[in-house]
Amino acid sequence: MRMVDIIEKKRDGQQLSQAEIEFLIKGYTEDKIPDYQISAWAMAVYFQGMSARETADLTIAMADSGERVDLSAIKGIKVDKHSTGGVGDTTTLVLGPLVAAAGAPVAKMSGRGLGHTGGTIDKLEAIPGFHISLGNDQFLENVNKLKLAVVGQSGNLTPADKKLYELRDVTGTINSIPMIASSIMSKKIASGADAIVLDVKTGNGAFMKSLQDSEALAQTMVEIGNRVGRKTVALISNMDQPLGFAIGNALEVREAIETLQGRGPADLTELCLALGAHMVVLAEKAENYDQAYERLQTMLTTGEAIDTFKKFVVAQGGDPGIVDHPQRLAQTAYQFDVKATESGYVEAIAAEEIGRIAMMLGAGRQTKEDAIDLAVGVMLAKKVGDHVTPGDTLATLYANQQQDQALAQRTLQAFRFSPQPIQVPKLIQQVIR
Ligand code: URA
Ligand code: CA
Repeated sequence: MRMVDIIEKKRDGQQLSQAEIEFLIKGYTEDKIPDYQISAWAMAVYFQGMSARETADLTIAMADSGERVDLSAIKGIKVDKHSTGGVGDTTTLVLGPLVAAAGAPVAKMSGRGLGHTGGTIDKLEAIPGFHISLGNDQFLENVNKLKLAVVGQSGNLTPADKKLYELRDVTGTINSIPMIASSIMSKKIASGADAIVLDVKTGNGAFMKSLQDSEALAQTMVEIGNRVGRKTVALISNMDQPLGFAIGNALEVREAIETLQGRGPADLTELCLALGAHMVVLAEKAENYDQAYERLQTMLTTGEAIDTFKKFVVAQGGDPGIVDHPQRLAQTAYQFDVKATESGYVEAIAAEEIGRIAMMLGAGRQTKEDAIDLAVGVMLAKKVGDHVTPGDTLATLYANQQQDQALAQRTLQAFRFSPQPIQVPKLIQQVIR
């Protein structure tokens, strides 16, 4: 087989065979096919697309390019969740304990944040003492006992995806639905999930800005899941504003705790209940969605959800005292309020920009090597639909440096106002299965 023939075939709009896809992924992983040929192929895919069958073959070839996590020692249907990069997206911290409390096993590998999006592993590190790595046996034992463990990615998972993603990033080929879908799904499959719930963000803070593109991405991922024997459900959720009020690591831990106690922000709570109910159904721990939803909702008020969170924190070496004493989480030296200068209804809050502001305060990384400040971030005081008058606090910046006037100004400008009351967009826009 010759790579040049494969490139020409795709360039001319033909389908590649499974053998051809395996050849190019294996060859690239082993450095036998050079970047320039894979770049040409990726650009051909960008323009010509891939069939559902090719996309599934690419997913499996990438999942098999490195190790696969073996979760067979865990009883039950292991269900994983993936979000396509939101801002202030605290869902995993809430969902893990919530779904585990309902009996669905969650053996999760999470990542760190980069750019304007945060990462679950950084948030967990904001819990004093928390270990984000466990030995393999401990990891499996925790999931069997508690139904929950969350660790950082380790081992050599999907090396082909890592190389290809970096190459796509510098060759203008990120924005291809079959390549995004196979990239995400290959990682979920390699990390051992039996069933997958996807939260595909749409709108300002999201990868996919239009509902149409988000739908296409969601459909492609669900189809991959079905073809490779992993039950998959995708929700499309709105990101025309950050999720919840908190953006920043320790701030989001606090928000997650409040949500697990049934007093969290309405949007974060709703999204967690919806994603969680689908996870519980896929794990076959409830008959149907409505039953699962109600059960989870009850757990937020009975204390079962927050108790599972405490046990999870203890099981990974952290201080469960943060639940009753949130001041044990890292605090900042300064807090600055950003105030409204006009009156009106909040129409949108540029999520991506708020994510960048949190990053500039120190909550996120501009490059993979940057150190971050776990305490800092942004707390919104107003959300889309709220009415404000001049002098009302829109957001508070939690900082460890003296006030940065430019950042305060940018925060103000991230809010868009309307003179008329505005219809709050539906958080969950669609469910695809
Ligand atoms: N996230 C991924 O993991 N892969 C992509 O290709 C895009 C977003
Ligand atoms: Ca949040």
